[in-house]
Amino acid sequence: MAVILLTGAAGTIGRMLRARLGHHELRLTDVHAANGIEALDVTDADAVTAACRGVDAVVHLGGIAGEGPFEDVLAVNVRGTERVLAAAAATGVPRVVLASSNHAAGLYDQSEAGPGGLPDDVPARPDSYYGWSKAAMESLGRLYHDRLGLHVVCLRIGSCTPHPSDARDLAVWLSPDDAARLVEAALTATGWRLVWGVSANTRRWWSPAGGDAIGYHPSDDAETWASSVPAADPTDSLVGGPMTRKPLGSR
Ligand SMILES: NC(=O)c1ccc[n+]([C@@H]2O[C@H](COP(=O)([O-])OP(=O)(O)OC[C@H]3O[C@@H](n4cnc5c(N)ncnc54)[C@H](O)[C@@H]3O)[C@@H](O)[C@H]2O)c1
Repeated sequence: MAVILLTGAAGTIGRMLRARLGHHELRLTDVHAANGIEALDVTDADAVTAACRGVDAVVHLGGIAGEGPFEDVLAVNVRGTERVLAAAAATGVPRVVLASSNHAAGLYDQSEAGPGGLPDDVPARPDSYYGWSKAAMESLGRLYHDRLGLHVVCLRIGSCTPHPSDARDLAVWLSPDDAARLVEAALTATGWRLVWGVSANTRRWWSPAGGDAIGYHPSDDAETWASSVPAADPTDSLVGGPMTRKPLGSR
């Protein structure tokens, strides 16, 4: 059991994790306070530092979870992550799990995957300002690992929803139970790592190696929903799917 500070705990993934990581002592925070969730804006350095005191790990989910104006993703995702990493370092928290995204590497094509799948640590190739902010978060994580020794695992999450909703999800879905397995594994990993956040999907084309290396063994498969989701767009062979065509900065 560990004491874990969760940012963005009121969001989709936060709700999934709260229901599944209850064997830890969870400190639930979000910019919007709610029942059982304390107010914490990750851009407020002093508040983040206070929240980090006495915790064993931070699972940093809070932020803008899709494309938006550059200044917004810079302020919340990048500066907010810097505040979290700096606070962890200042208060002696050894481990931070960062919710990165497949959109940090969204412009790789399936044809570049190779026999073992597209590597977890393929260099960043963002498909949006949002994806760029996630790449910047990963890079900040590396800085704090290299200079200050924090263990930082950056999860390049695919599509983490209760169930797959389109054909792309059949390859990139991360189930709620696998999300909890992934975070649990990340909470014991060392170093600075990039790990795909994806389930054991039959149509998966992102490598399982990074997950294997930290003891993440997914067990769900989006294929179960194959007959109930809309057909695939045959031109959608990029990691980031429709995000790769969205105008930069649009909400
Ligand atoms: N769900 C997915 O499929 C998916 C895929 C890739 C990456 N991610 C990443 O995982 C994280 C969680 O995603 P989600 O789907 O739960 O998103 P979400 O939008 O449902 O939740 C994000 C939460 O962050 C909070 N937040 C926003 N600004 C904040 C701030 N300044 N300080 C503190 N909290 C703030 C919001 O209030 C919200 O509750 C995000 O960082 C997102 O980018 C999610």
